[in-house]
Amino acid sequence: MTMPKTETISADSVDKAARLIRSGRLVAFPTETVYGLGANALDGEAVARIFEAKGRPRFNPLIVHLADRSKAETHAEFSDAAKRLADAFWPGPLTLVLPRSSDTPLSDLVSAGLPTVALRVPAHEAARALIRAADVPIAAPSANPSGQVSPTMAAHVAQDLGDKVDMILDGGPCPEGLESTIVGLSGDDCVLLRSGAVPRERIEAVLDRPLGSSRSDGDPQAPGMLSSHYAPSATLRLNAEVPKPGESYLAFGPMPPISGPALNLSDAADLREAAAHLFDYLRRLDATSAETIAVAPIPETGLGEAINDRLRRAAAPRPAQGA
Ligand code: TXA
Ligand code: MG
Repeated sequence: MTMPKTETISADSVDKAARLIRSGRLVAFPTETVYGLGANALDGEAVARIFEAKGRPRFNPLIVHLADRSKAETHAEFSDAAKRLADAFWPGPLTLVLPRSSDTPLSDLVSAGLPTVALRVPAHEAARALIRAADVPIAAPSANPSGQVSPTMAAHVAQDLGDKVDMILDGGPCPEGLESTIVGLSGDDCVLLRSGAVPRERIEAVLDRPLGSSRSDGDPQAPGMLSSHYAPSATLRLNAEVPKPGESYLAFGPMPPISGPALNLSDAADLREAAAHLFDYLRRLDATSAETIAVAPIPETGLGEAINDRLRRAAAPRPAQGA
């Protein structure tokens, strides 16, 4: 089999991969757990490419990979428990879901609009070298198409996503072969969101108390379902060609003549650009005095499926608090 984009780990290949990441492209890279599909976590359009490549029908939040703990601390609020876990397990296969810090430059799309972010400092030398060389945080889900198993060898990535990534760094088989353990920490709550390479008992030993359990197995949270998920307080009116008087407008493509507050997801009707702006622009229009946000029609193709999924959830009537 030919794998033209695959390059073995070397100073040169890591350097090339880092330049691709910095220029907004996708690079699959090895970690101690599984191969990740990496993009610059500061660049919303680069992050949108990840969803495009994986063919995810909705925006799941992604794990952000960092070079070290001090870098991680610039993006999220670390509770005492979070600091203890980071001390004990980083670098290594533990992911912490923490409140985003108010001034983090991370794209909103990596969090799929949630107020939290998943952070991890991987132990794999190639992953660390790539993050250091790119000098940006790297958002990376497992490098498999949506609904398939995680890849533990470069050849798996080449088979499944070869035509969708710009480069595959081959660091051999992943030593753990199992995804990172994910722990969610907010206030005093510590919850196991996904079991993985670090056993629950080891985490509980460090925290000196039992971890709570998440409500679901496997993929921890369907973000759109979370009660904590950002839902605008304004009403959304979808597929609106033009806004009515008093409405704000979230446009896509050419802007109709309007008078109220408006933002355009993409003048050029580019779905990747629209995905990159979606969560930020919803928030901004929600902050205006208009009680309804009219939203332009968005095609259901490619990333449009995930964008429309998110918009429909935001437009749906809310269940009562506590439901
Ligand atoms: O070992 C791993 O964790 C690998 C390597 C590449 O680091 N990555 C990985 O990513 O498994 P992914 O996207 O396949 O799984 C990450 C999980 C998803 O189920 C996602 O919903 C959850 O983490 N997640 C990410 N951010 C979250 C957040 N803010 N709140 C709740 N769950 C989150
Ligand atoms: Mg995965």
